[in-house]
Amino acid sequence: MTPKFDTLAVHAGAEPDGETGAVAPPLHLSTTFVHRTDGEPDTFSYQRDDNPTQHRLETALAALEGGERALAYASGMAAIAAVLDTLQRGQRVVVPEDCYVGTRGYVTEVLPERGVDVATIDITDLEAVRAACKGGVALLWAESPSNPRLRVSDLAELAKIAHAGGARFACDNTFATPVLQRPLELGADVVMHSTTKYFGGHSDVLGGALVFARNDDFAERIAARRLLTGAILAPFSAWLTLRGCRSLPARMALHCSNARKVAEFLATHPAVERVNFPGLPTHPGHSIAKRQMRGHEGMFGAMLSVELRGGYDAALRLARGTRIFTNATSLGGCESLIEHRASAEGAHTHSPPGLVRLSVGLEDADDLIADLAQALATQGG
Ligand SMILES: Cc1ncc(COP(=O)(O)O)c(C=O)c1O
Repeated sequence: MTPKFDTLAVHAGAEPDGETGAVAPPLHLSTTFVHRTDGEPDTFSYQRDDNPTQHRLETALAALEGGERALAYASGMAAIAAVLDTLQRGQRVVVPEDCYVGTRGYVTEVLPERGVDVATIDITDLEAVRAACKGGVALLWAESPSNPRLRVSDLAELAKIAHAGGARFACDNTFATPVLQRPLELGADVVMHSTTKYFGGHSDVLGGALVFARNDDFAERIAARRLLTGAILAPFSAWLTLRGCRSLPARMALHCSNARKVAEFLATHPAVERVNFPGLPTHPGHSIAKRQMRGHEGMFGAMLSVELRGGYDAALRLARGTRIFTNATSLGGCESLIEHRASAEGAHTHSPPGLVRLSVGLEDADDLIADLAQALATQGG
């Protein structure tokens, strides 16, 4: 019997401990492991190479994304850097114009110093992607839905374009999680996560991950580099993240239904010019999201952004005026968060001045809507 996704989430990497019978996965903090003397290779040797708790997490992540191999990292940025650092002088990478500000920072500041050519385009426009991939591209990077404008790109089409041009295709799947979208099934070569977000799920653990479609030379090269750069996830962080994996599908279901209600409320509010949420039929990527995410079950993620008619000042007032939504950065935790992205993102921001991003949490949806209604009442709209 092949277990279904929710069963995998609970059990993958979380088998009872063979030695003690402990049902909850154990946490191993040891940095070093006794060498075998029987001539067989050591299973574990040193924490930076691999360790049992991280190994359990990587087993779970590979199972959930449907990949052959996963690598856990100290942060999402460390995972992003691990892929981008495979690019060499003279090679070209195509990145989305709407993406996490740290990804943009890396491709703007670090890669050009190394002679890597960076093309930044709207990857929802497939013709633009085809044109950018002409003449040889090493890597096409996608993020869907994207941060902070919630743009949705057609991952299966992007995979085809990348592969036709001889490029690898990587996708940041942080906003969707594998509960909603499995890019490897759509042709991606590698999926990246900030596990700090929904996998951790409680705003108390930083981490990142890569999941590879194939355990090939590319995966091996990146794994070997992690050993040398030391960007590994600490065991306690791996343990917390593994715990998060087990409740991920259940949390995502409530996150998604709350977000839909919040988005529908905001879409009717006179102070709001635009709601960026793939679950709204007016969203330009709605039909793609419907088939690519779990839209047919009403699940479109729990991230959204709003653009206010009153622009910058109105957006700041909204972010500062809520009582249940906490005005803080990050996303994917139990608590709802709200943030004015242009102020938070600094020098590399492309966020419209009137945009506020919301991470819809697990509170009662009526309370969340009432909170936004009272904060928007100060807008005079
Ligand atoms: C879509 C996305 N990718 C990557 C990252 C970076 O992850 P981390 O903060 O864990 O380094 C973030 C962080 O907010 C993100 O939102």
